[in-house]
Amino acid sequence: MRVHIADHPLITHKLSVLRDKNTPSPIFRQLTEELMTLLAYEATRNVRVEQCEIETPVTKTVGVKIASPKPLVVPILRAGLGMLEGMTKLVPTAEVGFLGLVRDEETFQPVTYAERLPDDLSGRQCFALDPMLATGGSLAAAISYLFDRGAEHVTAVCLLGTPEGLKKIEELVGDRDVTLVLGALDEGLNEKGYIVPGLGDAGDRLYGTA
Ligand code: PRP
Ligand code: URA
Repeated sequence: MRVHIADHPLITHKLSVLRDKNTPSPIFRQLTEELMTLLAYEATRNVRVEQCEIETPVTKTVGVKIASPKPLVVPILRAGLGMLEGMTKLVPTAEVGFLGLVRDEETFQPVTYAERLPDDLSGRQCFALDPMLATGGSLAAAISYLFDRGAEHVTAVCLLGTPEGLKKIEELVGDRDVTLVLGALDEGLNEKGYIVPGLGDAGDRLYGTA
């Protein structure tokens, strides 16, 4: 598994505002989208492209375009939805599928409540979006789902992660082709399974339900 942890002052600045408990939902949503766009640059580093002929005003030449089958972007509902626009802004031709997971707050086990993905993901590059990698249960379930459907490669993008979550994903993926892009790696989890220092409940803060 390849892991990339962002190291850029603009990302750290935006994450700091996101972490602040006084940041209201509208700003939180805007920053989540902006951070996704910044992380998308790294997340798409290995996106498959194919050669194409183009004609500039001066001459014919060869360029590249995103290859088919198109990448599939999968926001993990609910909080991952806040990252979708930030990704599709950069990759507007990507297809979008949805996976709804909610973590049982007693057992920390993810429960799947919605799924709208193509049946066959053979040969697809998939991008799973979820702001929080806490225990890792939800992302592990999402990645397994995509590989079970035939995905060739999964890139997961999270704004914050923990060493515990990272370990869980590493154990799960084995030698499968997974890339994990994180905005920051935090200290760990508290007794309620929340990321420390973290930013609280990402879904609640995005959608004003705290
Ligand atoms: C949050 C978050 C992740 C999950 C992370 O979702 O968006 O999906 O928790 O925790 P884990 O790594 O321990 O599984 P939540 O279950 O709160 O649902 P929501 O997105 O609907 O708020
Ligand atoms: N889910 C969240 O939204 N935040 C956490 O800190 C952990 C899980």
